[in-house]
Amino acid sequence: MTTARATDEVAETLLANARGGDGTRRRARFHTLDVSGVRRLTDDAVEVTFAVPPELDDEYAFLPGQHVALRAHLDGEEVRRSYSLCRPPTRGSISVAIKRDAGGRFSTWAQTGLRPGDRIDVMSPQGSFTSSLAELDGSHVAGIAAGSGITPIMALATAVLGRSTTSRFTLVYANRSSADVMFLDDLADQKDRYPTRFAVHHVFSREERAAPLLSGRLDDERIRGLLSHVVLPDTVDEWFLCGPLELVDRCRTALADAGVPRDHVRFELFTTGVEGSPASPVARPPRPRADEPVHRIDLRLDGLSASVASPVHARETVLAAALRVRPDAPYSCSGGVCGTCRARLVDGAVTMDENYALEPDEIAAGYILTCQSRPTTERVVVDYDV
Ligand SMILES: Cc1cc2nc3c(=O)[nH]c(=O)nc-3n(C[C@H](O)[C@H](O)[C@H](O)COP(=O)(O)OP(=O)(O)OC[C@H]3O[C@@H](n4cnc5c(N)ncnc54)[C@H](O)[C@@H]3O)c2cc1C
Ligand code: FES
Repeated sequence: MTTARATDEVAETLLANARGGDGTRRRARFHTLDVSGVRRLTDDAVEVTFAVPPELDDEYAFLPGQHVALRAHLDGEEVRRSYSLCRPPTRGSISVAIKRDAGGRFSTWAQTGLRPGDRIDVMSPQGSFTSSLAELDGSHVAGIAAGSGITPIMALATAVLGRSTTSRFTLVYANRSSADVMFLDDLADQKDRYPTRFAVHHVFSREERAAPLLSGRLDDERIRGLLSHVVLPDTVDEWFLCGPLELVDRCRTALADAGVPRDHVRFELFTTGVEGSPASPVARPPRPRADEPVHRIDLRLDGLSASVASPVHARETVLAAALRVRPDAPYSCSGGVCGTCRARLVDGAVTMDENYALEPDEIAAGYILTCQSRPTTERVVVDYDV
């Protein structure tokens, strides 16, 4: 039987591995993993667990709040989507929870298309939606989630509560109704396990709750009410927000107005709200015309250098060009949201269309999202390894 202490030690080792003791960033790469379990969470959501073989344990070490990309071929086309890891680190398995997005390709397929024994490509974990608290003892962490946005917050809450006996976690979780609540039983179990340290407040937009504050959409007024009566900003050390862009923006504004410093608030978006499936960056290669000007893109990936020419007229992204010479260049959402395609701009200049993933300090340090960056200088040098 695994003792609590042994489990803590395993978690600590995995966390240390995920942080990368030498300060370098682990390279995101796909491995094919076995689906070891599928659990239905709601009519529209499943939890999928993958077995991680011992030789890949270090590759799949992760920090609570991080995500993986899954890759499948649907109707003959490669489809990649990001999913947050919903359980804290354990050796031998990782789990994600996938909620069906009406009309969505991958999430609809995943509801019935993934079964125990299936094998699927899973990228090693990435992401910076993680805690920056140096000390958990005595800390109070709060999460505001909507719908599938609970997934990374589930891992964060379990880790915060499990790794200290004096930490607290308060969760505000918005859904249409109780039938839509993912992890309903798990949340109730956590409440039973940590009655004084875990508080969960369900907010339903289409189901009446006893408290009027918890019934209705999380609009500005309701968010401000919650911050005045349910989770008081003065008592919170770190905030995690995960849900649609509009909700995350509302919460960030309300927290800023309540005097919460920006760097105490971490947020993760699953989509930008732009309708439609993300365009694949693997478009048909642009055909250079004779003597036409090109950008030269030099890249470093896995210690190897490569160079590719990109016709100026094509206005390609760095990622699209890079994939011609390095098909293993990392990416997932292609929409500026997940951060998987991050690289450092070592020389030259680019314009970045969208950025919902990089923190200001990463931008200042020269990082770019290659899926959103188009060269503006003749030569551009990017390094995926730093
Ligand atoms: C970092 C990160 C973590 C994430 N974690 C999770 C998680 O833990 N759990 C989770 O469930 N999701 C998560 N997501 C979201 C997930 O990656 C997918 O975006 C989501 O599952 C939808 O993918 P899909 O292929 O089903 O939908 P898509 O096919 O990409 O479609 C998206 C939406 O666009 C609409 N649409 C599609 N085509 C058209 C069209 N032609 N015209 C108009 N509308 C159209 C669809 O109806 C759908 O609503 C995460 C995303 C990111 C970036
Ligand atoms: S691939 Fe997701 S941000 Fe670039």
